[in-house]
Parts: sequence; structure tokens; C-alpha cells
Amino acid sequence: MGKTLRERAQALIEIAHPDDRVELIRQAKEAKMIYADQIYFAESGHLYPDKIACSHRFKDTLTVRFRAIKPSDEEEMRRLFYRFSDQAVYYRYFSPIKTMPHKKMQEYVNVDYRYTMSIVAIIDESGLGKIIGEARYVKTQGEPFADTAFVVDEHYQGMGISTYLFNLLLRAAREEGIAGFKADVLENNRAMLKVYEKALYPVQTVLSGGVYKITIPFNES
Ligand SMILES: CC(C)(COP(=O)(O)OP(=O)(O)OC[C@H]1O[C@@H](n2cnc3c(N)ncnc32)[C@H](O)[C@@H]1OP(=O)(O)O)[C@@H](O)C(=O)NCCC(=O)NCCS
Repeated sequence: MGKTLRERAQALIEIAHPDDRVELIRQAKEAKMIYADQIYFAESGHLYPDKIACSHRFKDTLTVRFRAIKPSDEEEMRRLFYRFSDQAVYYRYFSPIKTMPHKKMQEYVNVDYRYTMSIVAIIDESGLGKIIGEARYVKTQGEPFADTAFVVDEHYQGMGISTYLFNLLLRAAREEGIAGFKADVLENNRAMLKVYEKALYPVQTVLSGGVYKITIPFNES
């Protein structure tokens, strides 16, 4: 309910057997139900980490569901992007991005759950799932630490959602054998710095040109 035809087609494909998805994607493209250039990583169906899914009640008022991102989240992630203030966009992307086209967003939501992990925070609003936050790590091959990034809808900030996302992301990263997290955070982004400071691991920070270079090695607790 409340989804576009494209979102429905994608959501149905996501619950089909992973071995059938390549053919379903092909047919959905042929029927012009999904974008002709829709990306699909055949292996991602088998790698999707169901076990991340959980829910948590914040401040006794808001129940939030968490799960790994799916390709069918593209429209919802775009809606989240367009709700951001200019400041949130700048803090997240370090530049004043105004638009989030399909090409860019579909690359963002199609992840391999290994080198790139993304977890979304969802609330149910009038029976519809609404994404209100997202956190991810991206590990480049050959690098021991993964880059991290967070964003939470401004209406729901300060409730502990990022902190919770951070811990889910940390658990997933440890299970993948990642040695630590790193991040670049603008000097005046106190909320983000606070989330990292609360990590169970010692946080190393270096300030350079208005940006904190943060590293959190997991082996030093
Ligand atoms: C940074 C961000 C992800 C934090 O999300 P959040 O869900 O509000 O974070 P939490 O509620 O888990 O924790 C935020 C902490 O910062 C504190 N905080 C919030 N604003 C603050 C401020 N201006 N100064 C100091 N502390 C602040 C909160 O009190 C909280 O600390 P507490 O748990 O000790 O009370 C969110 O503000 C955001 O989306 N910002 C825009 C995008 C961004 O900056 N991304 C980070 C770069 S990758």
C-alpha cells in the first residue's frame, strides 16, 4: 500500500527465491515496470542479512524498525533526501547537493552487504513504512577500516536513533572481520561527534582543516 508500481514490482522480486530474481528483473524491465537500467547484483539476494532486522522503542514513544537496505528502498530514500535541510545535506555530503537522481540513488541502495553495508530505520506512519534514518559503512578493498556515514530525519533526531544504528553497524562490521571504523566529520557537527564518542571503543580524532578525521579500531577496548 502507498507504493508506486515500480516499488511494488521490486518489493515482490525481493521476496522471490534469489535464484529467480535475475529473470524476474529481466521480465519487469521488458514490461517497463522498473527502470531499464535497474542494477541488480545477483549475489546480493543470497547475501541479504535478514538477521540484522530488529525493532526498538525510543523514549517510550517511537517504535523504529531496523533492517538492511533493499533496492526497493530507492523511492523512500529519495523522499528522505528531499526532507533534509540544507545543513543536513552539507553535514552528510560535505557539499550543497540539491538533487538525487535515479542513477545516483539506485547505486546507493544496491549494496553487496559485504564491503558496503547499509541499515535503514523505518517507522510505520498510517500503515506505511517510512524511512527516517540510514547508516552505512563502506570498506575499500585493501583498507582495514571502513568509512561510515549516518543520517536521521530532522524530526526524529536526538532520540538515540543514530547511536542505535551505530551499534547495529558495528556488530555487522565485526562479523565481517572489519578492523575498525573511520569517518570525516565537520568540526561543528557536535551531534555526530557525540555518537562516535559514545562508542565502546577508544576513538582517535585528528582535526585538520575544519574536519575531524575519526578512527575507531575495534581491537582496542
Ligand atoms: C548526526 C546525526 C546522524 C545524529 O543522529 P541522531 O539520531 O540525532 O543521534 P542520537 O540521538 O543517537 O545522538 C545524538 C547525540 O548528540 C547530541 N547532540 C545533538 N545535537 C547536539 C549539539 N548541537 N551539540 C551537542 N550535542 C548534540 C544529543 O544530545 C545526543 O547525545 P546524548 O545521547 O548523549 O543525549 C543527525 O544529527 C543527522 O542526521 N545530521 C545530519 C547528517 C550528518 O551530520 N551526518 C553525519 C556525517 S556522516
